[in-house]
Amino acid sequence: MTKTNWLVLKSLAPYVLKFKYRVLIALIFLISAKVASVGVPLVLKDVVDSLSQQNQIIFLPVALLLSYGALRLCSVIFAELRDVVFVKVTRRATRNIALQVFRHLHGLSLKFHLDRHTGGLSREIERGTRGISTVLTYSLFSIIPVILEFSFVAVILLNRFDWRFAAITFSAVFIYLIYTFLVSEWRMKIRRKANEIDTQSNSHAVDSLLNYETVKYFNNEEYEAKRYDEYLKNYEKADVKTETSLGLLNIGQSVIIAVAVTSLMIITSQGVVSRELTIGDLVLVNGLLIQLYIPLNFMGMVYREIKQAFIDMHKMFSLLDLQRDVVDRTDAVELDCRSPNIEFRDVCFSYDEKRNTLSNVSFVIPSGKTVAVVGESGSGKTTLARLLFRLYDVSSGAILVNNKDVKEYRQESYRKSIGVVPQDTVLFNDTLGFNLRYGDPSCSQEDLETVVDLAQLGNFLHALPEGYDTRVGERGLKVSGGEKQRISIARAMLKNPPIMVFDEATSSLDSGSERSIQVALNRVSEHKTSLVIAHRLSTVVHAHEIIVMDNGRVVERGSHRELLELGGKYSILWNLQQNQPLD
Ligand SMILES: Nc1ncnc2c1ncn2[C@@H]1O[C@H](COP(=O)(O)OP(=O)(O)OP(=O)(O)O)[C@@H](O)[C@H]1O
Ligand SMILES: [Mg+2]
Repeated sequence: MTKTNWLVLKSLAPYVLKFKYRVLIALIFLISAKVASVGVPLVLKDVVDSLSQQNQIIFLPVALLLSYGALRLCSVIFAELRDVVFVKVTRRATRNIALQVFRHLHGLSLKFHLDRHTGGLSREIERGTRGISTVLTYSLFSIIPVILEFSFVAVILLNRFDWRFAAITFSAVFIYLIYTFLVSEWRMKIRRKANEIDTQSNSHAVDSLLNYETVKYFNNEEYEAKRYDEYLKNYEKADVKTETSLGLLNIGQSVIIAVAVTSLMIITSQGVVSRELTIGDLVLVNGLLIQLYIPLNFMGMVYREIKQAFIDMHKMFSLLDLQRDVVDRTDAVELDCRSPNIEFRDVCFSYDEKRNTLSNVSFVIPSGKTVAVVGESGSGKTTLARLLFRLYDVSSGAILVNNKDVKEYRQESYRKSIGVVPQDTVLFNDTLGFNLRYGDPSCSQEDLETVVDLAQLGNFLHALPEGYDTRVGERGLKVSGGEKQRISIARAMLKNPPIMVFDEATSSLDSGSERSIQVALNRVSEHKTSLVIAHRLSTVVHAHEIIVMDNGRVVERGSHRELLELGGKYSILWNLQQNQPLD
């Protein structure tokens, strides 16, 4: 047992101990099943002995025969009951852990998620939860039973026979286990290699087929086939080696058992000849040994599976150990305000230490007003929106909402107060209705239709044969960019929070739709405190204040008129955009 394995068991324990009575009952069934199955050869011995008594009239040992049958049946029934009782523990523990990991992942920072492959993450959860049932099932169904069986057999052997029996039986078991673990370790390496080669050859085949056209253009079919065959050859070698090593494992195990069983049978037979033992004893020894050694055959597999399960579970539990970057303070309060003001005070921020993304950004959005942010691509506009939503915490300076540092609010109530129309909208692979309702899953159909009209989605929805039930495809790829943006606007309106953030909310729309949506947006954000990020300056001329960003700094600020009079960056941009059609 390594340290990580103990850690894994420690993390797993509370989930299982929630069901301590169930576990206890399952253990009782387990012990009963084993007692019954060890009882079978004992009774059989008595049956044989009573039949083979010499110089006596032989009676049919009815009671013994019946108990023989009953014990056999009981060993099966108790084993089944054990499974039935225990399955709930495994499944519920799996469910609870999976749920907790899922919640935890949603609680982790955006940074964590941007650094990760979501596919890999979900495989880690899947493997980890499967590991739970492997460990629980195998320990209860393979390891504990084998240990129990050993103890029972040891007691019987020591009680009824001389020391040689126990000595031979258990040295054989000992050698057997050592041999199995050593060979299994060796085989695992071979297997891993074979799996790696298999993955490589697969990805090569896929890549080659994806490049179908390129292969054709260069007449390289033969070349590709040769490359593929190189991988296949390696896999063939590795696979043959795995199978051969399995044969070796099995043969070695059988040799150990055969030697042990034969020597014990010889000793027993000698005892029978010298009248110290009966024929029944011969049957008993044979029965006990077979019963003891059969489950050992699975030990190699159990060892391999459990080892893998521990690795998988460790990966999953270490996800749970990751700290959240943005956490509530213990004395955090609710944000409850109809129209809060917002202040960025000397905010500095960097995604990583090497490079400053925002430097000393300060501006104020008075309650109910709109402030616009414009600037070149990469100047840090979206970053402002993320900081306001508290997806990250500022490096220095502060963001104040309603004159209080955002860190003093509880995240849940704080985020409830902010509606965001993000730069890139990603939709759930579900229906349009589901995606629209996401802003407020409990909304009424009227509310939904109101925002759909405001976001100018009415015509689009009516034209669809399935209307709200139309599916949008993976990441919403089956709806156009402009439609996606309007869905995003509609659901933010549905959320109806006091603060709104629009990050180039209309950038994918044609000028006509943009203008009419702009009217709707202006109406919606009339009494709301809004942060609007825009490329097209014509959409922000009415803003209370316009902030011009460059390279993470505020370089100009003022109303549209003031900025034009200033004759700086903004006025250059403005003139460029005004003259665009003439170029
Ligand atoms: N998660 C991230 N990790 C590291 N750097 C990032 C991350 N997100 C953005 N950046 C970098 O931070 C800078 C500011 O990005 P931001 O998205 O705020 O720009 P933007 O002004 O919204 O640009 P655009 O107009 O193109 O949307 C960019 O240089 C970008 O490469
Ligand atoms: Mg952006």
